[in-house]
Amino acid sequence: MGARHALSLRLTINGTRHDITSDPDTPLVYVLRDELKMKGTKLGCGLEQCGACAVLVDGKVVLSCVTPVEVFDGQAITTIEGIADTEVGQRVQQAFVKETAAQCGYCTSGLVIAATALLSEDAAPDEETTKTALTPHLCRCGSHPRVLKAIKEAAST
Ligand code: FES
Ligand code: FES
Repeated sequence: MGARHALSLRLTINGTRHDITSDPDTPLVYVLRDELKMKGTKLGCGLEQCGACAVLVDGKVVLSCVTPVEVFDGQAITTIEGIADTEVGQRVQQAFVKETAAQCGYCTSGLVIAATALLSEDAAPDEETTKTALTPHLCRCGSHPRVLKAIKEAAST
């Protein structure tokens, strides 16, 4: 089966409208990285198994490596490039920096996205709730203890 014909789609990313012309079956992460040159969203497993490709869609965490871009037509997407546009996202980002909650950094944008979604819904989550929210996000460098510290810090500021 070949690629479908390119369609004109309208994505709203970090508050800016982007009119794109892509094969509508292309997963969102490829459109972000390759077409729009927004490289902050990482491609890890490509199988919805690692969390590296997380973005926010209408405030909820969505993995962008499998779902076709056409599903996001007309929805409000936030990527790591726009995460500091909200007060919560800015706090999370600053806490990750303060706690040096990254090593290679490959998983970090997904974790910042997940932490921002969590604290937007629950301003003071307990550790179990935080761990549950982070479960889909793998870190091969073992930065999770510092990530937990950063989220605690962001929650208390
Ligand atoms: S790249 Fe999407 S979950 Fe791993
Ligand atoms: S900091 Fe390297 S994978 Fe998480």
